[in-house]
Amino acid sequence: MKLLITGGAGFIGSNFIFYMRKAHPDYDLVCLDKLTYAGNLQTLQSVMKNSKFKFTRADIADRKAVYEIFETEKPDAVVNFAAESHVDRSIENPAVFLETNVMGTQVLLDACRKYGVQRYHQVSTDEVYGDLPLDRPDLFFTEQTPLHTSSPYSASKASADLLCNAYQRTFGLSITISRCSNNYGPYQFPEKLIPLMIANALVDKPLPVYGEGLNVRDWLYVDDHCAAIDLILHKGEVGQVYNIGGHNEMKNIDIVKRILAIVGKPESLITYVTDRKGHDMRYAIDPSFIHEKLDWLPSTMFNDGIEKTVQWYLDNKEWWENIVNGEYQNYYERMYGNR
Ligand code: NAD
Ligand code: DAU
Repeated sequence: MKLLITGGAGFIGSNFIFYMRKAHPDYDLVCLDKLTYAGNLQTLQSVMKNSKFKFTRADIADRKAVYEIFETEKPDAVVNFAAESHVDRSIENPAVFLETNVMGTQVLLDACRKYGVQRYHQVSTDEVYGDLPLDRPDLFFTEQTPLHTSSPYSASKASADLLCNAYQRTFGLSITISRCSNNYGPYQFPEKLIPLMIANALVDKPLPVYGEGLNVRDWLYVDDHCAAIDLILHKGEVGQVYNIGGHNEMKNIDIVKRILAIVGKPESLITYVTDRKGHDMRYAIDPSFIHEKLDWLPSTMFNDGIEKTVQWYLDNKEWWENIVNGEYQNYYERMYGNR
């Protein structure tokens, strides 16, 4: 089996590569990544010399380059993680989100048709469902919840999902889609809530909480997401959407306070800043379908996962310090400078 993993130098893609290396040591893994600001070859250092791993730098929206890679590598299956993934950046500059997340997906789907790839898996997100009200804790996202997007990011991800459905129905491509809740764990780029708060707390910088910090996210340890995708790839039904989440809803402010408690820093570091435009209130996945059909359940509980994650950032300071000391400083100033 040869798997083409796009976006494998990013957070979830790299964790998926490590997961698959262990779960299926006989598989050939090819990682295709553009190495945007979010892609990092240092992350893949431990697999770079493995004879059953190959890295190739390309843009998924570059048709010629993608076709050449499919022609040479002849993958049996494709798992598409490649995306612009940060909501705040999509509010600042939507265009690149459409180029990568929509047009890039289309190029990959065309390549699968042209080169007869047996299976394509699209890594999507629960954000395609929009948000849920805080005062209706009985409501959850199911696979039947209508798409109802809020940000340019989520609109681009929903568009890609619709294209996948269209290629499945019109051209008979064998496609599956997964929609996961918020991930956390090692190698997450420090623009996202959990690593940003850990990195800031460790150097006594203010912790910028949007609005009143009451928004709710449903957190899943990244390995549990990887395990779910592995199951879908091997046992999932073609044409099916699978929601992935572990019923772990938490308010942002509670996450931030937990991080401060773990690293032993004072809550006075918390600073409330202007809210994100169009900020989704609550995400909550109903994971009963994937549990019933594929027997998937998360294995890492939040208390353990967050301790492990903080420890990882403590043990791997060089990895994130290289990032926060670089171009990221300009981003941080633009995003938080006058907030
Ligand atoms: P990330 O931003 O950490 O990584 C994205 C990777 O894609 C990077 O390595 C980047 O270099 C690469 N990339 C970007 N544009 C590319 C292009 N045009 N061509 C090739 N490579 C390109 O993102 P992530 O958090 O690991 O998310 C991965 C996928 O999972 C995304 O599709 C995202 O929508 C989805 N997702 C993320 C979460 C989450 O909580 N992070 C939850 C659910 C779904
Ligand atoms: O739900 C899945 C999605 O989760 C993925 O599709 C996205 O790729 C991923 O980025 C994530 O989106 P969110 O917008 O939920 O994640 P983020 O880490 O940016 O923010 C989490 C919450 O924390 C959100 O309510 C905004 C808030 N926040 C975030 C940052 C960066 C703050 O209060 N302060 C911050 O500085």
